[in-house]
Amino acid sequence: MKLTAVCIFGVESILAGEIRNLGYDVTKISNGRIEFEGDFVTVAKCNVWLRTAERLYIGVNEFPAFSFDELFDGTEKINWAEYIAIDGKINVRSSNINSKLFSQRDCQKIVKKAITKKLGVQYGIERLPETGAEYKIEIFIHNDVAEINIDTTGTGLHKRGYRTLNVEAPLKETIAAALLKISYWHPGRLLLDPFCGSGTFPIEAAMMAANIAPGIKRDFLFEKWSSENLGKSRREKRAALERISIPEKVMIFGSDISRENITIAKKHAVAAGVDNMIEFNIADATKLKPSDDFGIMICNPPYGLRISDKDDVKILYQGIGEMFQSFNTWSKYILTDSAEFEKFTKNKANKRRKIYNGAISCTFYQYFGPKPL
Ligand SMILES: C[S@@+](CC[C@H](N)C(=O)[O-])C[C@H]1O[C@@H](n2cnc3c(N)ncnc32)[C@H](O)[C@@H]1O
Repeated sequence: MKLTAVCIFGVESILAGEIRNLGYDVTKISNGRIEFEGDFVTVAKCNVWLRTAERLYIGVNEFPAFSFDELFDGTEKINWAEYIAIDGKINVRSSNINSKLFSQRDCQKIVKKAITKKLGVQYGIERLPETGAEYKIEIFIHNDVAEINIDTTGTGLHKRGYRTLNVEAPLKETIAAALLKISYWHPGRLLLDPFCGSGTFPIEAAMMAANIAPGIKRDFLFEKWSSENLGKSRREKRAALERISIPEKVMIFGSDISRENITIAKKHAVAAGVDNMIEFNIADATKLKPSDDFGIMICNPPYGLRISDKDDVKILYQGIGEMFQSFNTWSKYILTDSAEFEKFTKNKANKRRKIYNGAISCTFYQYFGPKPL
């Protein structure tokens, strides 16, 4: 089957690397989408192990659709009984971009009608009960080409299960994982997030260091479709459990000016099973001094999206620039929406990368320190 893993724009190469590391050949990379081939063992493995994917789809058909008739016919052609059980509950969502068929509601209705008609014929019943497991059908109509996918994941893969309490502007777990992979951090190196909020960077890093699969504690939509699928998923999670290996020495630190956020970060680390691997402290980032000659700093400081915050952010970024001076032998990785980060910190980055944090266009500023001695 054709599988498509989706990710935020800007980290496609990272996700493609993860898929290859699991042993699969990537067949196509496009904006936010990585295609490859696999079966339900692949579906289980990818949902359990991919740290930077948002979700995983089964791609069932792709065809030109300039009219509702073409959309109906292309959908009806699919062998739906191969995917959907007789009592399956069918939900359809459509995303239409730059196409003649622009009404999402109408496209959803047409596709649902085509699926239920075909299933009715295939199962020999007039009315589908829709009392069983959920099947989320996603239609992407881009430039008049309809792509029909089935979501295998359900709740987005960023929901690992450890983040249960809210702080303002937390970073998505999948983005944190991707940025850690872009940085040259590895578990043998000291890592510090001086604006750690709910603890996402330190926790994701600790999970990587201990080889804890991100999906080990959660469930997925495809598990509910059959007992075989549930078995495959359980086997994958059990195998993942055996591969956890907590390193003896880990140097992962998180700090934040907010006492409340540090309390929350600690609770999240406990929930993720990595509290012994991270030291959290309350501290003003602009006053920090390094505890070691070499290390990696990674963070997303406050953005200042509201006009009223702009001056505060300028002062904070100036403070970050001064703090950087004491960390001049460190590598530093900063995600912010500010185009003026380098100006305010008076520090020119070695490299920049465009990353979309939700709808916010951000830059990942990268400052490379010298190699550790
Ligand atoms: C955008 S949030 C970071 C979110 C975090 N990455 C997460 O996933 O939860 C920015 C954080 O910076 C903290 N902060 C603001 N000013 C600070 C300062 N001067 N020193 C340290 N932390 C600060 C805030 O309390 C907030 O938790």
